[in-house]
Amino acid sequence: MVSKLEVIGSRITNRMLGRNKDYGGILTEVTGAQGSSKTGALLSFSTHTMRLHPKEKIFWREQYDAPLQIFKLGNGNFHFLVQKESKVVFRDRDNRLKHIKLPNVSYFESIPVYKEGLDKDGKKILDHTKPDFDDLWKKAIPGKVNVVFFGNPNEWMDFIHRLRNVGEWTNVFIDEMADICPAVNSDSLYKRIRDFAGDLGAVRRCMINVMYNTQTAQDVDWKIRKKVMLKIFLPGAITDTASRVTQRAIDNLKRDTIRGNEAYLDMGGEFGKIQFTNIFRPNPKYHIEAHVDV
Ligand SMILES: Nc1ncnc2c1ncn2[C@@H]1O[C@H](COP(=O)(O)OP(=O)(O)OP(=O)(O)O)[C@@H](O)[C@H]1O
Ligand SMILES: [Mg+2]
Repeated sequence: MVSKLEVIGSRITNRMLGRNKDYGGILTEVTGAQGSSKTGALLSFSTHTMRLHPKEKIFWREQYDAPLQIFKLGNGNFHFLVQKESKVVFRDRDNRLKHIKLPNVSYFESIPVYKEGLDKDGKKILDHTKPDFDDLWKKAIPGKVNVVFFGNPNEWMDFIHRLRNVGEWTNVFIDEMADICPAVNSDSLYKRIRDFAGDLGAVRRCMINVMYNTQTAQDVDWKIRKKVMLKIFLPGAITDTASRVTQRAIDNLKRDTIRGNEAYLDMGGEFGKIQFTNIFRPNPKYHIEAHVDV
């Protein structure tokens, strides 16, 4: 027998994967214990998005200095996009972190940003470079997961801001949001996160789906968390005072590494339950990592 919770669970997932301009995009937060398949949840939704909407662009954020999770998706389903002049390199953990060249990498341009004034020879003085988001957008391949590497992970905030203006359905998956919008942050990052919270508050109107995960919700800046529309609780998640899903209910979620873990969904007070059926195991052949060489 299908329970009421399961019916609502599939209604919410259909709403996420369906495309209705009146509803718009969704900002989703996934939480759960270590190893509860938080990354697996993002891989699962990116797979469904690829299959159901092969013309849409999908962007994926990976952590640096750790084996790339995207290999769990299977070769052919993803494509790497690296910012030129960003010092991002790939290394192989199975071979003493030796530099490795990957076949499916494209490079997008950087734009120079100059300091005010000129040097003594009358030349412009380079301050830093910014990613060329237009070039990045152009080089992203629809129907694949585009794994993007910026020199500085905070650029994700500006990139999503830029996506507000593309005018077509776009999907962004962020593994480990606390790296980008940490709860503890400095003055300049504070302002950037405040603006970014504004952008995330607009995803519904801009047809952008953003899904992020974090082990502990409190590690992500509260201004961002206030904009979350859908919360997915995997086993071991800690309840949050803003949701009516109880800790006891979460503690009873089934963990099943064969058939998939269960999860609760809370969307604006509507509760549902789902079971993930796609299992994304580590690929023992690939321990490739991205590093920013300094
Ligand atoms: N849908 C699933 N249901 C149950 N187990 C899964 C599922 N997908 C993957 N797994 C198993 O659980 C392990 C951990 O998954 P995953 O890396 O997605 O968890 P995580 O919560 O992101 O972990 P971390 O806290 O290290 O980031 C995987 O190696 C895999 O074997
Ligand atoms: Mg993970």
